[in-house]
Amino acid sequence: MSFAFQQAGFEILRHIPVLMEEVITFLRCEPGRTYIDATLGGGGHASEILKRTAPDGVVIGMEWDEDALTEAKNALMPFGERVKIFRENFIHLPDLMKAESVDGILLDLGLSSFQVEKEGRGFSFRGDGPLDMRMDQRMDQTAADLVNHLSLEELEYILFHYGEESWAKRIAKAIVQEREQEPIETTQTLRKIVHRTIPRRFQSRRIDTATKTFQAFRIKVNDELENLRKILEGGWMLLKKGGRMCIISFHSLEDRMVKETFRKLEKEGEIRILTQKPVTPSEEERRRNPRSRSAKLRCAERV
Ligand SMILES: C[S@@+](CC[C@H](N)C(=O)[O-])C[C@H]1O[C@@H](n2cnc3c(N)ncnc32)[C@H](O)[C@@H]1O
Repeated sequence: MSFAFQQAGFEILRHIPVLMEEVITFLRCEPGRTYIDATLGGGGHASEILKRTAPDGVVIGMEWDEDALTEAKNALMPFGERVKIFRENFIHLPDLMKAESVDGILLDLGLSSFQVEKEGRGFSFRGDGPLDMRMDQRMDQTAADLVNHLSLEELEYILFHYGEESWAKRIAKAIVQEREQEPIETTQTLRKIVHRTIPRRFQSRRIDTATKTFQAFRIKVNDELENLRKILEGGWMLLKKGGRMCIISFHSLEDRMVKETFRKLEKEGEIRILTQKPVTPSEEERRRNPRSRSAKLRCAERV
């Protein structure tokens, strides 16, 4: 997905689009076609789609995060009138598009590098920062609000269902105990609670012990699964017959939802699945961009 590197003493963040060639091939990019990039991020996929559909292909882009939107606007400026950008949750696409239909839709779920790497956004536990995790800064509820105000049962539910965390009960209890002393406001405070709660012998050496907890709160704050469910159900109406939807997901909850919805819609005769198994990055891509490792691409066509 992304990486940070040092240049002349400044940290430059760059988002590396994943599975680029695969997406371009599945979307059958050709001049004159119109695509929706529902998750613009840094505009990486969108600019490639625009290059491959030159001189007159169009991209309609959605992005709800202000930082990412700025990146995308800069990256896509050279394409002028061929790009239309909206700061919206992609679930509003059907209202926005009215009766207009397109040749393809891309959803590249997850986070952009600008979100992950910026400590103030609260997604990463590498540094310390406010426990925020809102992708759209206009939302009311932050992760700190959830952590400090949900009931014990609600915390356990979120950790178990959105983080697939087998220590959900214990972590929820520890959160409640800790916040009785003082509110949990920072990423490091939450991380330390999780590290203290899970016995050392059950802690992974490969990934940070707090990864599942952070995933759980991020999904809840941004309503990620509900958003995906809505676009998976409503997005097809935006496609012409033969139009394609490509979805790149980064964790099993999303991938399972995509797989099951595709299967159901295929049985109902609405779509044809083009990827019986998810397409994953090549060895070479994984080496070049380690964050691509968990990416899974599924694609289907409206019939
Ligand atoms: C992995 S990044 C996309 C990267 C992009 N494909 C590129 O090549 O630069 C995912 C982006 O989707 C945005 N996003 C996630 N859910 C969204 C939603 N419901 N509506 C609009 N944007 C969303 C995030 O803010 C993030 O910037």
